[in-house]
This record gives sequence, C-alpha cells and structure tokens, in this order.
Amino acid sequence: MKKTLATLFGAMALLVSSAVPAGEPIVIKFSHVVAHDTPKGLSAEYFRKLAEERTQGRVKVEVYPNSTLYKDGEEMQALQLGSVQMLAPSLAKFGPLGVREFEVFDLPYLFSDYTGLHKVTQGPVGKQLLDKLQSKGITGLAYWDNGFKVVTANKPMHVPADFKGLKFRIQSSKVLDAQFRALGAIPQVMAFSEVYQGLQTGVVDGTENTTSNVLTQRMNEVQKYLTVSNHGYIGYAVIVNKKFWDGLPPDIRTALEGAMRDATTYADDIARKENDDALEKIKSTGKTQIIALTPAERVQWKQALIKVHRQQESRVGKDTIEAIYKATGFDPARL
Ligand code: LMR
Repeated sequence: MKKTLATLFGAMALLVSSAVPAGEPIVIKFSHVVAHDTPKGLSAEYFRKLAEERTQGRVKVEVYPNSTLYKDGEEMQALQLGSVQMLAPSLAKFGPLGVREFEVFDLPYLFSDYTGLHKVTQGPVGKQLLDKLQSKGITGLAYWDNGFKVVTANKPMHVPADFKGLKFRIQSSKVLDAQFRALGAIPQVMAFSEVYQGLQTGVVDGTENTTSNVLTQRMNEVQKYLTVSNHGYIGYAVIVNKKFWDGLPPDIRTALEGAMRDATTYADDIARKENDDALEKIKSTGKTQIIALTPAERVQWKQALIKVHRQQESRVGKDTIEAIYKATGFDPARL
C-alpha cells in the first residue's frame, strides 16, 4: 500500500511540474513584409502551427504578413524594442542595424545553386554571422531560403549596356547599390511595400527579386520584361529578441527550437518550387515577356559584376568572402 501511495504521489508531482501554468499563453508576434503565399509566408505559417501544437497552446504565434504590422526600416527597431518577438528579414537588410557582413549574400554570382549556399548557411560561416547579432540584442535562429533573382523592367534587359541610366529599386544593401552601379544603373533604396507603386508610377524603372515576390506583389503587372538572370540570391535570417528568447521557460524554448528546425527544412524544401511555379504563372498571363539569357550574354553579366566582390571586401569582410569561396568551391577567376 505504502509503495502504491508513493508511486501515486510521485506521478502527481510529475504531472504538476510539467503542467501548463495557469494564465495567458506566451505570445510571439512574427512580422514580415511578403505575402502569405511565398516561401517565407508559408514557412512562417508552418512554424506557427508546429510551435502551437508542440507547446500545447502555451505559445501563441501571431503572424503578420505583407508589412501589415511593420515595414522595412521599422521592423528591426520594433524587434529590438520588443514590440515584436520574431522577424525573418532578407539578408540584404542587416546593414542599417550595423551588421554589414550579411550583405556578403548579395554579392553577384557568389552562389550558383542551393547546394553551395547551404554549405554556408548550414555550416560554420552561417553560424558565425548569426552570432554577430547577439551584441544588437538579437538572436539568430535559422536561415530560410527564398531563391535566385530575376530582373524586371519595361525594356528588355539582355546585356549590361541595357541597364545604363535606368533607375532600379534595391533593398537597403550597399552591395546591391554597388551591383547596380557596376551595370551603369542608378540604384534606389525603397521599402518592399512600396515597390509596386514605385514601378507603376515610374519612380523607378525596374527591380530585381525572386519570381514569388514579383508575382505576389503584382510587379509583373507593371513590368513588361523579366530576365531570368539568377545573378544573385535572396534568403532570410529568422531572428528573435534575445531578452525574450533567453527569458522563455527552458522546455518551451526547446520545443520552439525543434519547431524552428522543422520549419527550416520545410522552408528550404518549398522555396525552389514556389519560385518555379511563380515563373510559370507570370508566363501564363502572357503580359510579361520572359527573357532567358544566352551563354554569351551571361558571360557579359558576370564580367561586369564580378568586380563587385573585390570592391566590397572592406564592407563585408575579406575573410567572410574567402570563407564562402572555400565552402562552396567558388573561384572568381573562373567565369
Ligand atoms: C525585398 O525585395 O525587399 C524582399 O527581399 C522582401 C522579402 O522579404 O523577400
């Protein structure tokens, strides 16, 4: 009898210690700037589902897509102040925060496929870069893919000479600024939420992005030509407010880390297809002409752009560039 009672009390103690505490769930506001039906939008939603299931409702994730809560230029500060807990900004948007090394991902032609890219984002270089965020009160949890960039404009863009004098919207990255200057264009930083209008009104003549972003922001409706150049990459760092993250009950944090790991696998699995499907949809409207570069044209782009790697060494760090060359086997001398 004594033994049965002891077992019962033991079991009850276990139940009490693992029980959900009374009160409100922990809320994670996850703000981002793209549409729901994009690689990032779908992955944020997948993370929400996993996080809520695995914490049995002790965590509630509120996803705010499409710049509905904060837009570019606002969201980083909102995270640092704790007004939101989670973001997934493009790697091209960390310069204003003072972490310029992330702009290394903007170097043209640095990555030729997802395999090389993952050697960086899932390896030691990726981790070292995320660690740099700690001093800004931010913890980097993961990298999520979007994809390789296309260029859109109202005139056909085949070779670097076609860029001359045109205004291009860019994300807030000095490397992207240098990239468009190397093509003879005039770069202009603009928040993602303003790109459609910027293109429609002619404030800018063209832009670069992934096809999923082009389609879901309807940029294709105001751009007659789209060149499949794959000259650069867009991906994300999923980041959280460090104080908030460190203050979570350890069992909750562990569950959320697991949900983030699985959401990252999901993000990287769907990214390519989402962008391929978006290109097909843009094609099927028949309104935007799709341009595929010839091998000779591609060489011209590379020749015009590869110098940006050297030019930007002081901005993003020669060591970082070289570590990436080493991880991916990239050789700038071999075009
Ligand atoms: C942009 O062009 O600003 C995009 O990278 C936005 C995004 O988060 O994909």
